[in-house]
Amino acid sequence: MTTSEDQPGLRLGSALLRMNAAVAQRPPVFSLLGREWDLLPGVFAPVHDLSTQLFTTWLPYPDQGSFLEIGCGAGVTAVTAALKGCAEVTALDISEEAVENTRLNVRRHGVGERVRVLRSDLFAELEEGARFDAIFWNSSFIELPPDHVVHNVLERAIFDPGYTTHRSFLDQAAHYVRPDGRIFLGFSSLGNHELLKSLARQAGLETRTLRGFPAMQPAVLTYQLLELVRM
Ligand SMILES: C[S@@+](CC[C@H](N)C(=O)[O-])C[C@H]1O[C@@H](n2cnc3c(N)ncnc32)[C@H](O)[C@@H]1O
Repeated sequence: MTTSEDQPGLRLGSALLRMNAAVAQRPPVFSLLGREWDLLPGVFAPVHDLSTQLFTTWLPYPDQGSFLEIGCGAGVTAVTAALKGCAEVTALDISEEAVENTRLNVRRHGVGERVRVLRSDLFAELEEGARFDAIFWNSSFIELPPDHVVHNVLERAIFDPGYTTHRSFLDQAAHYVRPDGRIFLGFSSLGNHELLKSLARQAGLETRTLRGFPAMQPAVLTYQLLELVRM
């Protein structure tokens, strides 16, 4: 039997899930990147690992352009994109709680005219013809066996059984990006790079690592900002 002790990814995912689910460890308001943010129950909390902070800092936001965030969670990246000069930001999440949370932070930071927030399974709720200068997902990069049943929205924020969501993201992203636009994925050394590369190839894309940061907590891993480019 495989246990989390054998798989560092599973160990990180289980630790993150435990921390995210522990009510006492979830401040209703948190500070990140010099701003305060609301945090609702059931939403991926950017306080337990560095992913949100690093990717939000590293992303090259298209100045006066359009930015699509898949899986906006509490809304830190989407709001920051607007504050950094994107003219139009679309923030999507499959989780109703995340959509509500992002709307709270859009209001808190006064960027409602530039950010729209929709509940959507990946790109499903976008209007026909929607195209973006940049597309980004801080992905649920811990792989689980394909037959694993995801029980709640927090699990879906961390785990992707069979990488089915990664496959769909890679298959569809190129359709929604402008010809000169860019596709980014927030990933890590604990994600399945071989599978990701193979899924990307099948979608006519290849992965490039733009930035990396080694961390010791909550596991030993390197956070990586990847770009997906047409082959
Ligand atoms: C690692 S969390 C990142 C949250 C937020 N962007 C951040 O950095 O704090 C991944 C997010 O992807 C969302 N997600 C997972 N599967 C999705 C899907 N099929 N469609 C849209 N969002 C999805 C989760 O609900 C979660 O909010």
